[in-house]
Amino acid sequence: MENLIYLDNGATSFPKPEEVYTFMDKFYRQNGVSPGRSGYDLSIETGNIVEDTRKAMTRYFNGTDPRRLIFSLNSTDALNLAISGLLNPGDHVITTTVEHNAVLRPLHHMSLYQDVKVDYIPFDGKGFVDPDDFISGFQSNTRLVVVNHASNVTGAVQPIKEIGKICREKGVTFLVDASQTAGKLPIDIEEMNVDVIAFTGHKSLLGPTGIGGLYVKENLTIKHTRAGGTGVKSAQRHHLEEYPYRLEYGTLNIIGIAGLYAGLNFVLKKGLENIHGHEMDLTCKLKDGLSRIDNVVTYCADDLTNHIGVLSFNIKGFEAVNTGTILDGEYNIACRTGLHCAPMVHEQLGTDKLHGTVRIGFGPFNTMAHVDKAIDAIKEIASIYTK
Ligand SMILES: Cc1ncc(COP(=O)(O)O)c(C=O)c1O
Repeated sequence: MENLIYLDNGATSFPKPEEVYTFMDKFYRQNGVSPGRSGYDLSIETGNIVEDTRKAMTRYFNGTDPRRLIFSLNSTDALNLAISGLLNPGDHVITTTVEHNAVLRPLHHMSLYQDVKVDYIPFDGKGFVDPDDFISGFQSNTRLVVVNHASNVTGAVQPIKEIGKICREKGVTFLVDASQTAGKLPIDIEEMNVDVIAFTGHKSLLGPTGIGGLYVKENLTIKHTRAGGTGVKSAQRHHLEEYPYRLEYGTLNIIGIAGLYAGLNFVLKKGLENIHGHEMDLTCKLKDGLSRIDNVVTYCADDLTNHIGVLSFNIKGFEAVNTGTILDGEYNIACRTGLHCAPMVHEQLGTDKLHGTVRIGFGPFNTMAHVDKAIDAIKEIASIYTK
């Protein structure tokens, strides 16, 4: 652990800001009770943190009604709630080959068990999907378009606003997976024409695992696919129709919500543009360094303008996992190798044959020195193993 260079922030951010650890510890010691439901002062106080976090996340997405910000376990859970609650048997969905299994698998299951048809728009040589490709894909039964805001493999940020505009014109619901971008980029669902957005708390929002959610625009109905306790209107047999209860089930993860609250506050205080700017400086330096090493291939656009601080590469002819194992064992550098739960990206890139890519994901606490060490290590590995 000591001297570890952690470059796996695309999977989860680590470490968290000191403020997050301190806030969570204090909160759980002082407020670890059922939020809001029980009526005594401490319960109400605990409920206030939940509601403050709803408000803060709603503001971050430029939503209008905090009740429409619902908490779930993570973005996989949130995406499952949205996908299964928006689709009916016989519906058609358009998505992309950039998606994570958090989207691909729920859609696959819907196609197997609910007769939902799914079409996949491929990305271009630089990692971007073309909004025009969606236009010809619409059918009379197209109900949903699902697109990843930024790829967790290539780091490409998709043209969400333009795709959303097309969905608006067609009257089709637009669901965005902001797992990689929430906490990194400004997200304005109004301006970006987004109907539902899924987020996870443990990546760039710098909170703990086990918390995520959705913001659902007004007038959009997501049907219940689960039911249970809500702490209010308990005599009613049917799960509540009104938000946020409509999509929340059981006791909330209050310690996770507290961590998300502290993480979001940290990000907003530091400034999104400062954090993202810093991570992009590191990414540009890494890309530049890797481009000077023989036999190293990177999988990203030449111009990193529409990009996040995630970069995939391989040493030619060398399986990704081997590079990752040596980086860890010999250099104490932690990064992710494999398909990164996004198999269709690799089918398109041809990296499935190398069992994926090595992925470096930067966080706010990485430094230029970390990049230098990573470049030197990769250079040494490439020179030894591709002789
Ligand atoms: C693009 C994308 N979508 C969804 C997810 C799933 O996030 P979680 O594991 O927090 O549900 C991830 C996490 O790796 C991701 O990168």
